[in-house]
Amino acid sequence: MTTEEMQKNIEKVFKERFGGEGTIYASAGRINLIGEHTDYNGGFVFPGAIDKVIMADIRPNGYEKVRVFSIDINQYAEFGLLEEDAPKESWARYIFGICREIQKRGGVVKGFDAVFAGNVPLGAGLSSSAALESCFAFALNDLFNGNKIDKFELAKIGQSTEHNYCGVNCGIMDQFASVFGREGNLMRLDCRSMEYEYFPFSPKGYSLVLVDSRVKHELADSPYNRRRESCERVAKALGVETLRDATMEALDKIKSDITAEDYFRAKYVIEEKQRVLDVCEALVRNDYETVGKKMYETHNGLSKDYEVSCEELDFLNDLARELGVTGSRIMGGGFGGCTINLVRNDLHNRFIEEVVARFNDRYGHEPKIYDVVISDGARKVKENGEEVKADKEL
Ligand code: GLA
Repeated sequence: MTTEEMQKNIEKVFKERFGGEGTIYASAGRINLIGEHTDYNGGFVFPGAIDKVIMADIRPNGYEKVRVFSIDINQYAEFGLLEEDAPKESWARYIFGICREIQKRGGVVKGFDAVFAGNVPLGAGLSSSAALESCFAFALNDLFNGNKIDKFELAKIGQSTEHNYCGVNCGIMDQFASVFGREGNLMRLDCRSMEYEYFPFSPKGYSLVLVDSRVKHELADSPYNRRRESCERVAKALGVETLRDATMEALDKIKSDITAEDYFRAKYVIEEKQRVLDVCEALVRNDYETVGKKMYETHNGLSKDYEVSCEELDFLNDLARELGVTGSRIMGGGFGGCTINLVRNDLHNRFIEEVVARFNDRYGHEPKIYDVVISDGARKVKENGEEVKADKEL
């Protein structure tokens, strides 16, 4: 479904459920060119928002209750705004968490009615949850707080929601990308200083293609949190705040004091930190061969050292290499989802045909293919019946 069709449907359902119309907001899913599992280690990430969004029609209702309907799963939830009012539906906890985290920071949230839907594929590693969080955080900042909460705080409100209401100890990358995304630009974020830079990204002769294995991952209570714990243990053993400040030499010195597993987790993170910087440099030179080579190295590290890949994603990576794709790697938290591929234009169609056919032969279902369009992040879409123009200022 296109975003325009989705918007029409949201407006229609809002009218049927609550009458009239609210204000429409959206926020985006994200890709990440390189820099995986580096955010919670104080390293660099290199994401961009995509043209797939979560969109919500929202209107204050004058009560102390939130009434919200999810079109995609056809479920309604209702909850109050105190800590003990937490809803049991896991999807509604994202919205409840945003309300609570705004309140905890001294912000205002009153009751509202909302209808939402999305076209960010779920469980594909494209951060549908960050899109949902950022959409509501942005909206509630606009509706109740006169936009006084700054954008970084909005991203942190989403991240704290994951930590405190959804059981995932995630870093800041997804919410940052979803809030700060800008059409045509990737962003390099230093997750220690929180400095960031927009990088216009329109590689000549190449495109980014996502191959979604449709193997679903679930990050809650998951190996994701255990990866993070490994990194924190090693940082502690090294006497540094995060692995951002670690080197391979220092890691090798304490090798016998830590488990082999922790050693390889930290090795991956230390190497990945450098790869992000190398890729940024290569991009400035339009050197896509180096960008691609680094992507393969990341996949290898994520698969062998960080162990967040799975058979299907390794298969997709091998296939990309065999077909001569410039760069390919698992993207996002791992344990399923997508690979991101840097593909020469002359190979684009053949790559997609081969990947779909050969994956299907092997696993009995076709992967989904998405061409990446780097787009805007959180925004107001429609207010008082008028479409809101995007603000293009940097
Ligand atoms: C998930 C998390 C992010 C990040 C990635 C891995 O998407 O939400 O914070 O750690 O995994 O790079």
